[in-house]
Order: sequence, then C-alpha cells, then structure tokens
Amino acid sequence: AAVKRYQFDIQVKNVSRLCHAKPIVTVNGRFPGPTVYVREGDRVLVNVTNHARYNMSIHWHGLKQFRNGWADGPAYITQCPIKTGHSYTYDFNVTGQRGTLWWHAHILWLRATVYGAIVIMPKPGTPFPFPQPHREEIIIFGEWWNNDVEDIEKQGNKLGLPPNASDAHTINGKPGPLFPCSEKHTFTLEVEQAKTYLLRIINAALNDELFFAIAGHNMTVVEIDAVYTKPFTTQTILIAPGQTTNVLVQATQTPNRYFMAARPFMDAPLSIDNKTATAILQYKGIPNTVLPLLPQLPEPNDTAFARSYNAKLRSLNSPQFQANVPLIVDRHLFYTIGLGINPCPTCLNGTKLTASLNNITFVMPQIGLLQAHYFNIKGVFRLDFPDNPPTPFNYTGAPLTANLGTTLGTRVSKIAYNSTVQLVLQDTNLLTVESHPFHLHGYNFFVVGTGIGNFDPKRDPAKFNLVDPPERNTVGVPTGGWTAIRFRADNPGVWFMHCHLELHTGWGLKTAFVVENGKLPDQSIFPPPKDLPPC
Ligand code: C2O
Repeated sequence: AAVKRYQFDIQVKNVSRLCHAKPIVTVNGRFPGPTVYVREGDRVLVNVTNHARYNMSIHWHGLKQFRNGWADGPAYITQCPIKTGHSYTYDFNVTGQRGTLWWHAHILWLRATVYGAIVIMPKPGTPFPFPQPHREEIIIFGEWWNNDVEDIEKQGNKLGLPPNASDAHTINGKPGPLFPCSEKHTFTLEVEQAKTYLLRIINAALNDELFFAIAGHNMTVVEIDAVYTKPFTTQTILIAPGQTTNVLVQATQTPNRYFMAARPFMDAPLSIDNKTATAILQYKGIPNTVLPLLPQLPEPNDTAFARSYNAKLRSLNSPQFQANVPLIVDRHLFYTIGLGINPCPTCLNGTKLTASLNNITFVMPQIGLLQAHYFNIKGVFRLDFPDNPPTPFNYTGAPLTANLGTTLGTRVSKIAYNSTVQLVLQDTNLLTVESHPFHLHGYNFFVVGTGIGNFDPKRDPAKFNLVDPPERNTVGVPTGGWTAIRFRADNPGVWFMHCHLELHTGWGLKTAFVVENGKLPDQSIFPPPKDLPPC
C-alpha cells in the first residue's frame, strides 16, 4: 500500500461550449477534473484549496470511508464547507474496494462542473476477473448549461418550479458534433483492430438517467459501482446519475468511425428530453473526414428495456468476491417518495414544489450532522425519522391529495451498530410518478428486489434475490414502483441518503442514518481531523 497525494485547487476558469463562453468552477482549471488513480489498500490525501468565491466541499462517491465520515464530504452533513481562501485535506484509506467510482462537489449545484473519476486498481498480483484489456478509458457523462448554474438553481428556487433543463449532455465534458459549435468539442477514442478496451463509464449528469450505445459494437458489462458483476453482453447500457458501469468493448468491426451516443431515459409523464451527446470511436488509420455511423438507442420512454437491463445486473459472487447478503433483517424501513407542493411566501406563485420521504421534507442544518452527533451538540437534528409513512395509502394509484403538503424537518433515523437493515423505497403518485436514483453514503447495499406498483410486504419478499443481487451505492427506484435494498450497518457515523437528481435533492428528497458506535474501540468513529472546516 502506498500514500497517494493530490492537490485540488478550486479555481474559476472560462470555458466555451455551444458557442457560449462562461466562467465555471473547476479543479486545477480542468473540466472534467483530474482522475484520482489509486490502488486498493492505499491511503489517499487530497488537499483541497478553495480559490473561488463559492463555498466548496468534495464527496468521494461510493468510497465507504470506514469509520471516517470526516472525509465523506457532503456539506452540512459531514463537514461545513471549505470557505474561500481555506483548505481541507481529505484523508482516507481505500479498503476492500476496487473499480470505478467518482468524486464531485457536494454543495448546491456546483457538481455541474466540479467532478472527476476515481480509478481503484486491484491489489498488486490480483488480476481482473475478466480478460485483461489492451487499454482503458474513462467515459464520464455530464450536463452543460449555457447560463450560470447557480443562477439556474436560484431561478428555480424563486419560481418554486423546476429550473431550465440543461442545454446539452456531454461526454468527457464535450457535447459532440450534433450540437452547435461543437465539432472541436468532441471526444474521440482511438482503437486498434482486434484489441479489447475497458470503458469506465460514469454518469455525472445532474438530472438525467442515460442510455449509452456504440454503433456496431456490443458492450460486456463487468462491473457496476465498483463491484464485479456476472458478465453479460448488451447493445445499450442504462446508467442513472451517481452510478458507474465498466464495460469491455472489442474492436472487431470493419475499421471505420463510429458514434458513441448518450441520451436520456424518461418514462415519467410530461418529461421530454432528446438531447444526444456523442463521441467517436475511431479505428486507427481511418481519416477524420469519414462520416461516423450513429447507434440505435431505445426510445426515451422504453421502460421494458430498463426493466430487462436492470434484471441482468447480478453480483459476480465468485469464491473470491462473495455477495454477503443479509438473510435476516433486524430493522424494516419503508420510505415513500413524494413530490408535493408547499407554501412559499418568497416564491412568485406563493407555492413551491417540494419532495419528501415519508412526507418529510429534509431541511439542511447550519452545522454538520456528523459534528453534532460526535460532539453531542443538541438541537441540530432529531432522531425521530419514522420507519413507515404517516398514513398508508394506495401509493401508485389515486393519490391522497392531503399528502401533497409535507412537514419540514432535519429528521434522521438511528440505526444500531451491525444491525441488518432492509429499506423499501416506494415511488408514489403524489403530483406525479417519476424514477429516482437513490444514493446511500458510507455503504454498498444489495438490491434484493424491485417491482411496479405498490410493494406488497406479504408477497414480494418471497421473490427477493438473496443469492446474487447487484451490490451498489446508487439504485433507481422505478417510475411508479419500488426497490428493496439490504445492508449491514457496520460503518458507524452519519450517512447521507438522497435522490441523486440534483433537482430533487434540492427539493428535500434526502435524509440521513446515524449509525451508532459498537461496544469495542474499533467499532467507533475516528476522531475528527484538526483541519476540519469550522462552521
Ligand atoms: Cu454522489 Cu451525496 O452524492
């Protein structure tokens, strides 16, 4: 194991896309930001120095941060922001994980431009459980707004309505030639005939789940969220914000130029977004003048594809990489996901859209929840988040309009150390059904079941996959359906859980788990680092 050091300077830089130039927040002036390359077992020290006029915090999405929430990064959950002119060193060990993850700003909408990949190579001498690729490449999706992202967010808050959708999707920060002025902002991957490539695909988009395909080439999925899967071959992958997917691609087609394309999956009523980001897979020796071929992508509302794709995702569950699925559940949680309307005196219409879990809209605290928990500071949060919704109703049928209003609160759930938890996330028809990629910090979980309609606690658990369910850190709750996850609460601390659609996070679709210390000293949270940003 080694110590890897990185310096992240938060700087504003002028970048032009789609015929517009604008200042954006970056790490080291790069967009997307630098890749963090580490090996399983390494200690990583990232010094973040903030030279911009925005408050900053960085989250290492998918790293478990065992007993070390101080390095997790979500602002006001595990730390206060790094203010202008200040620094903080994220200091963490990469233990028991290998694969592709990513990092991003975890404050307001700044992750629109502040994001990058994390590559964790397996321990020396440990090969991948799939053919060694000739070369690997990072493919990271994003969203680009021509206007200032902070203004977009503020506009949304003022109207109480969704702000403008992004102007483009991007691949490695580039929208590709289907967008205006974007010929030169096109990512190209050069390949050699008969060689195999590992693509580390990351969805860093703020609000869109994406289909991705490469014309003429299949992909073999081998890993999701830094966990190996049973390999399967597909023309198209589906990836929600927050998720990562590693695929192998064989360059065995007629040498040519082929488009890689990403476009939103949108099966909720009234959602339309057809913007297609493209990049080019180019065989060595083929001139740039050859017109690339476009891949066929599923229709934007192809729910059937989404269901069958997600059903193919299985943990590898080899002797070396076991899926340790909790078979007995100590704590049953059932959370409804609702969109709703709350009064808003400062909003243009006097109301605003909100989002809630069990009818509670989470209110951000003024100091970090982890500090409040560790130092026993009273009055910051309440430990009374309900295990079940206030009134059971026909969640995906006729909505109870009374449920459209929500109660506000910084309310979280207390979980006993090492207990096994089952959480069912149920989408509802409050306002509208929609799919929600849920992300839990500090843990991977097993996706033991999913379905359309209302979760049936009598019948559905009998159908759970407790053998090789996918293990991940972000999972989609299907439009008008439910998803059940299980995990063992063996990582003490305060761990954020939220919808990874930034729009919904901002509306309050979030809460946290306070996982208590165990009895032994090695079952407790580490003490905080000296340079932890003060509030
Ligand atoms: Cu990728 Cu709480 O975030």
